[in-house]
Amino acid sequence: MKVVKLELQERSYPIIITKDDFKNLAGRLKALALGNQAFIISNPIISRLYGPGLKTALSNVGINSVIYNIKDSESSKSIAQYIKTISKISSIDTKKRLFCVALGGGVVGDLTGFVAATYKRGIPYIQVPTTLLAQVDSAIGGKTAIDLASGKNLVGAFFQPKLVYSNVSLLGSLPARQISSGLAEVVKYGMIIDKDLFAFLEKNYQKILNSDKESLIRIISTASKIKAHIVANDEKETKGLRTILNFGHTIGHALETATDYTNLNHGEAISIGMVAACQIAQEIGILEPKVEQRLIDLLVKFNLPIKAKKVDLKKVYQAFYRDKKFINGKIRMVVPSRIGHVIVTEDIPFKIIQKIIKRSIS
Ligand SMILES: NC(=O)c1ccc[n+]([C@@H]2O[C@H](COP(=O)([O-])OP(=O)(O)OC[C@H]3O[C@@H](n4cnc5c(N)ncnc54)[C@H](O)[C@@H]3O)[C@@H](O)[C@H]2O)c1
Ligand SMILES: [Zn+2]
Repeated sequence: MKVVKLELQERSYPIIITKDDFKNLAGRLKALALGNQAFIISNPIISRLYGPGLKTALSNVGINSVIYNIKDSESSKSIAQYIKTISKISSIDTKKRLFCVALGGGVVGDLTGFVAATYKRGIPYIQVPTTLLAQVDSAIGGKTAIDLASGKNLVGAFFQPKLVYSNVSLLGSLPARQISSGLAEVVKYGMIIDKDLFAFLEKNYQKILNSDKESLIRIISTASKIKAHIVANDEKETKGLRTILNFGHTIGHALETATDYTNLNHGEAISIGMVAACQIAQEIGILEPKVEQRLIDLLVKFNLPIKAKKVDLKKVYQAFYRDKKFINGKIRMVVPSRIGHVIVTEDIPFKIIQKIIKRSIS
């Protein structure tokens, strides 16, 4: 078991990375004394697999719990689902002290966080992420959100959980494509800040793909440390540091939007976006070509795409222009200068970006 601390004064919290059962979590919850009624938000697939174990462990330490399932889809991050969820909480909220548990991937985590941030002006919640992407990224850092028809994550709040409990054993049931998607974010951490993590991924990719628990604990705890450090120093993305987490995401998001979030999942889109960012870095003369090749070799090992198929180029450009990072005709891009280091710049000529976007589509 590893414990990473996210330091935010009185809002600090531990991130536990373990392979053990829920007993360990229940003990910690009892010590945190968040309340004696847990409202577990999950989806039918995940709650069938892990709901009973979690409920039993909680009940053994005197915490009552109910499971509330939402539909297994991004469409659950909606205003309608938000209202249904808070209404349900309100209907069972008696004199007991209630807290929320997000048992699921980023969809469950984002909705639960926003519910907890807003119900009664904020109640405690914890994250029990069940996808690799959620364990290395979305469950950490307190960005909570739901979507509007006009765009993703447009309604939200910064609201930190009291605990993040990442159990690699929960990843055993995760489809291989979802594992690869989470690995794209881990590769990102290597590229932006940690060349040793990148080298570890290159050396141990086979073990990781075989879900070797010790290797997973190593990469999840390293990723958690990096994200915790960045969030602790720039919680609300006002100091520029948190921006580096957007490496691969500018072009990646445009690809996701252009394909209506259908043929590419998030990790696949940022895999392509990271390769594109390397090509931009070469165009402006700050990156050696061999770095792009190393990145491509690693992404391919993790079964991630490096080009997008069947995407309408016009739609990608449109999505790119509409991006909130596009200000006064300039777009903020995160580009690498070597493995483990990136720069943030607004000086990339749009001609170069267009050329590289075109090259990212096959
Ligand atoms: N808050 C943040 O900082 C942040 C960061 C990145 C992404 N996000 C958000 O996260 C969401 C994507 O999250 P995601 O990639 O985890 O997707 P997801 O929550 O949709 O989960 C992916 C799929 O895996 C299934 N699943 C989850 N855990 C499983 C398990 N253990 N076994 C079997 N199946 C399992 C889910 O049912 C789902 O079908 C997006 O809405 C995105 O906006 C938020
Ligand atoms: Zn991401």
